[in-house]
Amino acid sequence: MIPILRTVAELRALSGGWKARNEVVGVVPTMGALHDGHLSLARRARAECDRVITTIFVNPKQFNNPEDLKKYPRSEDADAALLATVPVDAIFAPPVEEVYPDGFITTVSMGGVAQPLEGHMRPGHFDGVATVVTKLFGMSLADRGYFGHKDWQQLQVVLRLVRDLNIPVQVVGCETIREPDGLAMSSRNVRLTAEGRAKAPILYAAITRAAEDIRAGHADRMAIREAAETMRKAGFERVEYIELRDAETLMPSDDPRRPRRMLAAAWIDGVRLIDNIPV
Ligand code: PAF
Repeated sequence: MIPILRTVAELRALSGGWKARNEVVGVVPTMGALHDGHLSLARRARAECDRVITTIFVNPKQFNNPEDLKKYPRSEDADAALLATVPVDAIFAPPVEEVYPDGFITTVSMGGVAQPLEGHMRPGHFDGVATVVTKLFGMSLADRGYFGHKDWQQLQVVLRLVRDLNIPVQVVGCETIREPDGLAMSSRNVRLTAEGRAKAPILYAAITRAAEDIRAGHADRMAIREAAETMRKAGFERVEYIELRDAETLMPSDDPRRPRRMLAAAWIDGVRLIDNIPV
């Protein structure tokens, strides 16, 4: 049985013991409802670290929509069973009061890379992410933190965060894990109806096609417009954005010599999906 820790004191005692023996500690922060994408992060941490902690905490501070927070899937028993297959050494699943006790007033607030795209569509989201990630790093005493490319902007935010605040954690970005039809794995996918699930992979197909067209010399704007049109025709209710951005700063980029990323967010079947690919 993998120990499930509820308090920072328990987590610190366990991790502190490992660190005293010079063991390398990896942390995989999650909000639970685990799927193969999360497990791939845990497996990578398992391969690269002496000890692995997975955190399961649905962080209220990063939800700008209370309904989304309420509906966020929670499945701790199933998550623990999946993590036993990796296996990880400990699960940290604290109650909200342990992370944000009475009187909590501090927020890590970020500009720059945290402002556009998801930052614009979901005001306060990345401040919530930056605050909880800072806390999870501090609580776990981790040497390495594992994050997926699926949330590309989040990964860039966390990379900037550790640089700006001199947090001694090496941030490791890991490839997006996809279903066989291309849909990026996400905890939100379970909310799709069968019809929505059948259409959802069109997001990845449309941005892949746009990226190929851009690489072949087509105009960026035209390729993106076609991708949005394909998605709308397929039944996506709303295409929030499809943008070609500098892969690191997330600022608009028409410089093909710099690494660029195409990022998209769209609604199908009442579910908001995001995805991104290199261009
Ligand atoms: O990617 C997530 O699941 C969350 O944003 C994270 C990094 C666990 C912080 O709550």
